[in-house]
Parts: sequence; structure tokens; C-alpha cells
Amino acid sequence: MITRSLAEQLRNAQHVVVFTGAGASAESGIPTFRDALTGLWERFDPAQLATSDAFRADPSLCWGWYEWRRHKVLQAHPNGAHLAIAELARHVPKLTVVTQNVDDLHERAGSQDVIHLHGSLHSPRCIDCGLHYMLPLTSEAQPEGGGRIEPPRCTACDGHVRPGVVWFGEMMPEGAWSLGLAAAERCDVFLSIGTSGIVYPAAELPLRALGLGATVVHVNPVRFDVSSQEHFLEGPASMMMQNLLHEAFGDHPVS
Ligand code: APR
Repeated sequence: MITRSLAEQLRNAQHVVVFTGAGASAESGIPTFRDALTGLWERFDPAQLATSDAFRADPSLCWGWYEWRRHKVLQAHPNGAHLAIAELARHVPKLTVVTQNVDDLHERAGSQDVIHLHGSLHSPRCIDCGLHYMLPLTSEAQPEGGGRIEPPRCTACDGHVRPGVVWFGEMMPEGAWSLGLAAAERCDVFLSIGTSGIVYPAAELPLRALGLGATVVHVNPVRFDVSSQEHFLEGPASMMMQNLLHEAFGDHPVS
């Protein structure tokens, strides 16, 4: 429930961090990471596909899955949550968006300098020499269940091009983690939106913010346990973020 005090804390905040997971993109039609996978990948646990071993063992199966996901992102549009987060930046002195998502929906909603802790579907690179690869912005239509797609070859060393995401067992991009941690440690309000909070170290960020006295708010339609000092807005990100913005700034001109 959005209390007057929470709305006031957001209104008076000098630095807000918005930390998002797959649930923030769910209402754009992007399956969350732990949604049952469909079609070709139904029999896999995502963690079995999102690893460099899986890619090296079967590059076409893995690349096909990521191309299917990239195609879904290219077809998707930012939802009310992405738009409310971009709007929030116009009401507070400083807003930092830190996302676990590999789509570009925050950017397409107008958020700036988004920190991607787990990389991006739009930044593939050679698995051997690391050379970045530009993907066509329109991927050919994918059969709904997806299919195997032979990954491109690196123009420099002929290695396979791999998705530009962080796989299980891989380190997060150093710069992204330190920027995200610094923001969590300096903010007054930390909004954690649409994440199951089970993957570390990303899931550490709200705990760091709380430990340093920030107001921490979880937004999720599925209630989970949080400490008594944390707020929980139980509902879909789009509606909850629009309501929060209205409660806090509805009658207040953009600062
Ligand atoms: N609004 C808000 N939250 C939602 C919505 C919605 N409309 N729909 C679903 N959710 C919530 C789910 O209840 C769940 O808690 O979004 C969360 C999605 O959880 P995951 O699928 O685990 O995704 P995420 O938390 O982003 O996973 C973190 O784990 O597997 C790695 O790299 C992967 O970035 C991913 C990370």
C-alpha cells in the first residue's frame, strides 16, 4: 500500500535508485527468466542454456534461444513501468536505473545511462577474441517455438559470436557492478521492481541500501518475506509505479 509517508519520502529524495528484474518487462510480453520456457526450450532449465559450456556444446541451440528472446524484445514496447521510471527521473534530483534485464526497454522509454548488470541482448561479441558484433536491428521472423540458429562467425578470428549477456558462473561487467553498488550505497530511496531477488550478487543491492538507511520498496505481484523496515507494493509494476508517481507527484509540478 502506498502510504503518505512513502510518497513524501519519494518526493523529498535527493537520489533514487530503481533496480529492476524480468518482472519489469513482463507486461511488455517478455517472458520472465523463470517462466516456463516454451517450444524447443521447454525441456531446459534456463540455467542449463545460459552458460558458456552450453553455448560451446551446442552453439546453434543456445544462439537460437537468444535470437528468439531478442526478436521478442524487438517486437515489444516499453510498458507503464518503464515509462513511469523514465518520468520519475524528471521529478527527483538524481535517478539511477540498475537493471538485471538484457533488453533495452528502459532506454526506449527514455531512461538515461542505464546500468546493465547482466549485459545486453544487443551487444554480442566473439567468444574467443571478444570483438563486438553488430546484429541487424530487424531479426527475421522466428517460428514461435524458436529453432536452432547457427551463430555468426567473428570477422577477425572466425570464432563463434556469442550473446553479450552475463552467463551463470561469469563475472558481471566490473564497471556496471561498481556503479550499481555506489548508487545503492548513496541513495535515499531504493525501488526494487520485478525481481525474485535470488541471484547474487545483484540481489545484494537492496540489502546494501537498507543497511545504509535508505527506504527500500519492493514491487511485485507475488508477495515474499521482507524485513519490517522494508515496504512492499503488491501488484504489477506498471500499475504500482504509475500509482506511486501519482501519489508522490500527482499534484506537484515537475521539480
Ligand atoms: N510486475 C512486477 N513483477 C512481476 C511481474 C509484473 N507484472 N510479473 C512477474 N513479476 C515478478 C515475479 O513474481 C518474479 O518475482 O518478477 C520476478 C521475476 O523473477 P525472475 O524470473 O527470477 O527474474 P529476475 O529476478 O530478473 O532474475 C534475476 O537471474 O537468471 C538470472 O540473469 C538472470 O537477470 C536474471 C536474474
